[in-house]
Parts: sequence; C-alpha cells; structure tokens
Amino acid sequence: MHRHAIALASWAATASASALVSRQAGATVTVDLTKTYQTMDGFGTSEAFQRAVQMSKLSESQQRYALDLLFSTEKGAGLTILRNGIGSSPDMSSDHMVSIATKNPGGPTKPLIYNWDGSDNKQLWVAQEAVHTYGVKNIYADAWSAPGYMKTTGNDANGGSLCGVSGATCSSGDWRQSYADYLVRYIQFYQEANVSITHVGFLNEPELTTSYASMRSSGTQAADFIKVLGPTLDKANLSHVHIACCDAEGWGDQVGMLSGLKPVDDILGLITSHSYTSQPSGPMNTRHRVWQTEAADLNGAWTATWSGGGGAGEGMTWANNIYQAVVNSNCSGYLYWIGVQTGATNSKLVRIDGDKVTPSKRLWAFANWSRFVRPRSVRVGVSGAPSGVKTSAFRNEDGSVAVQFINGGSGAAKVSVKVSGGTAASAAAKGWVTDNTHDLSELDGVAIADGVASASIPGKAMVTIVLT
Ligand SMILES: *[C@@H]1O[C@H](CO)[C@@H](O)[C@H](O)[C@H]1NC(C)=O
Ligand SMILES: *[C@@H]1O[C@H](CO)[C@@H](O)[C@H](O)[C@H]1NC(C)=O
Ligand SMILES: *[C@@H]1O[C@H](CO)[C@@H](O)[C@H](O)[C@H]1NC(C)=O
Ligand SMILES: *[C@@H]1O[C@H](CO)[C@@H](O)[C@H](O)[C@H]1NC(C)=O
Repeated sequence: MHRHAIALASWAATASASALVSRQAGATVTVDLTKTYQTMDGFGTSEAFQRAVQMSKLSESQQRYALDLLFSTEKGAGLTILRNGIGSSPDMSSDHMVSIATKNPGGPTKPLIYNWDGSDNKQLWVAQEAVHTYGVKNIYADAWSAPGYMKTTGNDANGGSLCGVSGATCSSGDWRQSYADYLVRYIQFYQEANVSITHVGFLNEPELTTSYASMRSSGTQAADFIKVLGPTLDKANLSHVHIACCDAEGWGDQVGMLSGLKPVDDILGLITSHSYTSQPSGPMNTRHRVWQTEAADLNGAWTATWSGGGGAGEGMTWANNIYQAVVNSNCSGYLYWIGVQTGATNSKLVRIDGDKVTPSKRLWAFANWSRFVRPRSVRVGVSGAPSGVKTSAFRNEDGSVAVQFINGGSGAAKVSVKVSGGTAASAAAKGWVTDNTHDLSELDGVAIADGVASASIPGKAMVTIVLT
C-alpha cells in the first residue's frame, strides 16, 4: 500500500496494481476525524457572458431541467457556488456584460448614474433560482473590469488599469472610490431583489489583456483598491461580504500576487485563482480560504465520456482535477467556467442544442463531489488506500462522513472503511458509483458491521461512501 505516493501522471497506469489488490483481502481505509484540514464552501460554476440569456431562451421544462442539473442535490450536481459577472461594457452586443452605470458622470467626485435593468443579462434570474429554489448560499459577484471611464485607457476591454492605483494616474483623477461604490451598488441591487451576495471580486485574469472586458493589476495595485473597497463595504453595512482576489489566469500567477496583497490581509476574505496557465500545485501561503474559480476544457470537442484515454474533457479527468485542488492544494471551493451553454466544445458542464439540454460526465464528476461534500464540511484525514486509488474524506455538519475513492486502475479494489476519532461508531453506510455506464448510481454490496463499512470500488470509477 503506497498511500500518498501516487503521482497524478501515474493515474492511468495502475491497472495491474489494482487487479492485484482486488485479489487480496480489502485494504483498511481509516478516516481520522481528529486530523482536520480546510472547511469547504463547495463546488460551482458561472452563467456570465450572457450564458444565462441562453438558458432563459429554453422552453420552461428545459430551463427547469438545466437548473436541476446544476443545483439539485437529487437530480443534478447540487452545486453550492454561483459566480456572476459584474458588467463593465457600454452595451449588450455579442456576449458583453452590460455595466450598471454605462455613462461617465463627468469625474470621480460626481455621483454615478445607474441604469440597473433588473435582469443583469438574466444572471439575477439564475441567482434567484439558485438561492430560493435550491438553497445555494454562496453567490460570488466578480467584475472583469471597471467601466472604461474609470480606467487609464478609457475602455473596459483591452486591458488598462483602474485610475488611482499605484502607477496609474489619470487626468480625470482617482476613481477608486467610484469603483468601490459601483460594486457596493451592484450588491445592493441584488439585495433589493432578495439575493445576498456573499463574495465580491473586482478583477479577472489581471495579468492578461484581452479584446473583451479586462483590467490589468499587480498584487500591489489590487491592494491599493482593496484599501478603499473594505471601508466602503463596511459603511454600507456589508461587512459580511468577503472581498475576493484576484482570479489570476493560473495558480502560479496568483501565488505571485500574494506578497502584494499582504498590506490588506486583514481586509481580504478569499483568495481566488483560475487554472488555465498553471494548475493548483499545492497549498497557497495564506490564512484565507482559497477557491479555484475558473477551469475548463475550453476548446475540446463536446464529449460525454467518463473514462476513455484520459482526454481533457472526460469526467474522470475532472474528478482528478478536483482532487488535485481540494486534497493536494487546500481549496475550499472549485468552479468550472460555464454551467449551461450552447456550442460544441467542452467549455461548459451542460450543453444546449436547440431546445435540448444534455449533461456531460464532467457535470457528474462535480456531482460526485458536490452532492456529498456540502458547505461547512471539513476535510479530514484518511489513510490506507490501496495502490492506484485516491481517497479523500470530509465530515459534514450533520455528522455524516463522506469518503471518495477514485480508482484509476481497471480492476476492482476491495476496501474496508472505518472512522476513528469520533464519538459514535458509524451505524449505516451507502455508496454511489460513477463510471462509463453509471451516473452516480447506488453501489451494490456496501455492508456495515461493527462500524466498519466494506465495499468494492470498480475499476476506472469514482465511488463515494457515506457513513452516518
Ligand atoms: C427572500 O428570500 C428568503 C430566503 O430564501 C425567502 O424566505 C423570502 O420569502 C424571500 N422574500 C421575497 C420577498 O422574495
Ligand atoms: C445592517 O445589517 C444588519 C444585518 O445584516 C441589520 O440588522 C441592520 O438593520 C442593518 N443596518 C442598516 C443601517 O442597514
Ligand atoms: C488551508 O487553508 C486554510 C484556510 O481555509 C488555512 O487556514 C490553512 O493554513 C491552509 N493549510 C495549509 C497547509 O496551507
Ligand atoms: C457520479 O458520476 C457518475 C458518472 O458519470 C454518474 O453516473 C453519477 O450519477 C455521479 N454521481 C452523483 C452523485 O452525481
């Protein structure tokens, strides 16, 4: 048993090891409740860039199906985080996210002129559904850029910086307070529509200049703005809203921004990173919770495969990506880029084709985690996994313990699962399996005796065992 010794790269090459394991008596996997790691906020996605508009054009029954697939714990993935895009564009052409204050008021000392339309490119509808129909608590509102008139370039697209942060002086003055007011007003518009935004961000991939909304920032420049945003939220009675930073394009870049953020460490509430240019590669040096807020197979052709050749869009690949972020890199949240969208790539979890909505196995990979690892659960220690099998474990608020197994080998692996460090022995156990032919089906043959659960983990499958 070589626990912890399984590199991600060797994932697909452990068939013989697992076959061997299956002929032995089951490995004893021990969950240690006294060994605790990060607290979880959960798993999520986004309907930014007018993807929510695409959802809204579906027939009512397909809308419900799509929402169920994202947020229902019985019919879908049971996601618990929604990331909204706060618009900065002057219009809604193409997939632009329109600003809530498109017009330059004439300077940073003038009050902003709001044009809230009560829709927010249909993101408000998705958020209301998430919160009120499905009980989602984490709504992360994130701006890709400030409106153009607040920036060095006068344009919300094509990079540029927020006027007033270090190294970005503008003849029109310092717009930091206006941008803070702008973000607060967005939160209030949602509050007035009965949706509580819990996290707010003001950057997206700030190391990148793109033809759509984009704003450059270093860690130091982000801190220059956070200094203003913190007190502005407090004054508006929004101290409970966590400030998130900085949604860098890759893990390494976000790590690089941390030192610049040090002066505002007490004001910050969440560290966020994408994983395009580099994947989560270990815990970040921060006391704050960390979310991986954007990842996707952006260009791969649509695939509904769970496990084939290890392709970038396969469900099993995403089960592993999530593992790498949550278990190896201390993430409390993990988000795919888009939930539901049209088009023939893997950039979303669920595809819209005409009036037809189709989930991918990526969605079910998220479901295998998200349905059982609920908000405020704590990751706990687990040891003794058979070779070729990755395990993780979480204690939920209701006392249940969810243990995940990702079996990279092609043979089944027998396991016995026991929980140590708790006050009561486990009285019941249930398992769910996802592989090429099962979508989170109940796993047969899970038994419990004297508090120890036993099960067989099929090859190339992800199994969750919940002990209560
Ligand atoms: C606001 O949301 C809460 C919590 O979901 C709900 O109980 C309440 O009915 C909602 N109120 C309105 C006016 O929608
Ligand atoms: C501030 O928020 C709290 C709860 O979040 C509420 O009880 C209080 O009335 C609010 N005060 C103002 C001035 O809005
Ligand atoms: C993991 O994240 C938590 C915050 O959620 C932090 O307190 C803890 O120090 C981190 N652990 C490591 C090993 O970095
Ligand atoms: C886990 O993923 C499998 C494979 O797609 C899927 O069949 C199953 O429904 C998922 N389980 C849950 C609980 O969503």
